[in-house]
Amino acid sequence: MLVNMKEMLLNADRDGYAVMAVNSVNMEMARAVIEAANEEHSPIIVQMGRSQMAKLAHAEDILPMIIAMAKRADVPVCLNLDHGPDFKTEVDAIHRGFTNVMIDASSLPYEENVRRTRIVADLAHASGITVEAELGHVGQAADGDGRSADMYTNVAQAVDFVQKTGVDALAVAIGTAHGKYPAGFVPKLDFQRLAELKAALKMPLVLHGGSGSGDENIRKAVAGGINKINVCTDAFHAAELAMKAKWEHEPETDYLNIMVTAESAIKLFVRDYIRMIGSNNRYIFDFASNGSKE
Ligand code: 13P
Repeated sequence: MLVNMKEMLLNADRDGYAVMAVNSVNMEMARAVIEAANEEHSPIIVQMGRSQMAKLAHAEDILPMIIAMAKRADVPVCLNLDHGPDFKTEVDAIHRGFTNVMIDASSLPYEENVRRTRIVADLAHASGITVEAELGHVGQAADGDGRSADMYTNVAQAVDFVQKTGVDALAVAIGTAHGKYPAGFVPKLDFQRLAELKAALKMPLVLHGGSGSGDENIRKAVAGGINKINVCTDAFHAAELAMKAKWEHEPETDYLNIMVTAESAIKLFVRDYIRMIGSNNRYIFDFASNGSKE
């Protein structure tokens, strides 16, 4: 079923688990992600960023297809605009059928972040669409971002931000970064800050830059109150590794089979990740009432 993020993340917050949000750039990826969630009886978030949509996942083509897949699923599926940069993109996303939008004004001055987020929250909520925003800034692993606390989320400011904007979920900066870290590097997360943020905000919190963060960090982050984890690079990587191995062992593999290989690898990766963050077996299809129940 296609849902917004509200109840999905409130349930995760109440029961202490996180929902995976996977950047999915084509039919095969979206299908792998949704099928993995279905088989694990887990809620799931399928998301796309603006540059991913511009490059490959053209919204007008791919959204109707993903919405249809989401509606057919036995588990709650949210369709999220990842890192929406401006009002035009947000309004377009709302009209096209995204059920959650992220507005990312986190690199702008605080008051401007508040102002833009508030407007997007008002617009989206009027259409039953939920909103995620970011405070502090989660940068790029390739630039060495995330290693110093200057970009981390300030607790008092976060309380003020949520009060003023009315967002449904807040992405916090506690030491992760987007993309690939240098080989062998595992980020050090500020769990003390996460504990303070959770205690002060008592709402669903989001971790961006899930890839390469290390299983132990991810498990601790979930235990510490993270309820949505964004994963992109590692999902692509799972497909890349499987495709390379397939070509190595079967150089004659054709296009069709290589696509099937990639899709299966992503599905396996997502199923494992879902179990790691504890969202499996949260929605079991109830044949008696002909509906899904928690
Ligand atoms: P990674 O590519 O590091 O997993 O980051 C994904 C993300 O946070 C998307 O918003």
